[in-house]
Amino acid sequence: MLKIENLKKSFTQGDRNIEVLKGLNLNLDPGVTAAVLGTSGSGKSTLLSLLAGIDIPDSGTMNFQGTDLAKLSEQERTKLRGEKIGIIFQQFHLIPHLSALENVCLPLEILASGDDPIVKGKKILEDVGLAHRLDHFPGQLSGGEKQRVAIARAMVMEPELLLADEPSGSLDEETGENVMKLIFSMVEQRGTSLILVTHDERLAKTCDRIHRLQNGALSLAL
Ligand SMILES: Nc1ncnc2c1ncn2[C@@H]1O[C@H](COP(=O)(O)OP(=O)(O)O)[C@@H](O)[C@H]1O
Ligand SMILES: [Mg+2]
Repeated sequence: MLKIENLKKSFTQGDRNIEVLKGLNLNLDPGVTAAVLGTSGSGKSTLLSLLAGIDIPDSGTMNFQGTDLAKLSEQERTKLRGEKIGIIFQQFHLIPHLSALENVCLPLEILASGDDPIVKGKKILEDVGLAHRLDHFPGQLSGGEKQRVAIARAMVMEPELLLADEPSGSLDEETGENVMKLIFSMVEQRGTSLILVTHDERLAKTCDRIHRLQNGALSLAL
């Protein structure tokens, strides 16, 4: 479903050019959970931002279900991301002035999928255990609850690929573990492919495959 070949990305900082991804390859089959394990600064978030279409690579291909993500226009990338790729960040990235339900309904409204956003949004917030928090704003929710809202928002479009960037990274251990259990159970139930970016070896082991991001390239550890 996803085949990344020879992906390169560098940034300029002042007069320095930093090569972050130096010809990265990755193959992901449908329904597979894959961990990308790497130390801080190794380029994990850079990789996810390219996959999510938030940033564009210098060169290389990212073939997702027959479409090269690197060749799409900004508008096409936004549409494809909205329909087929869900994203969860370490810092939740919820919209502060929207309620939990409004945050979750937003992708459905933007893409006008035909489903009733409120019905679908309520259902998925129930699935993540937040039926009693529909009208709360992010500022009124705990870290774990905020991440559950973000999970619901990422999964409400029933994406084929879920990208998660250290989703338990800013939560305490127990809350983080519960959030990860929820992510795994949701992707398993729906057959969603998962790329989980983490620096946590133990967490990486809960995925079907472990890839190590080192010196700008990925190697398969399992
Ligand atoms: N927008 C940017 N501009 C300049 N440098 C960046 C940018 N984004 C990331 N980098 C650099 O790329 C490297 C990898 O960053 P990142 O992908 O965030 O690593 P990780 O998520 O593995 O901690 C770091 O050295 C970082 O400073
Ligand atoms: Mg990062």
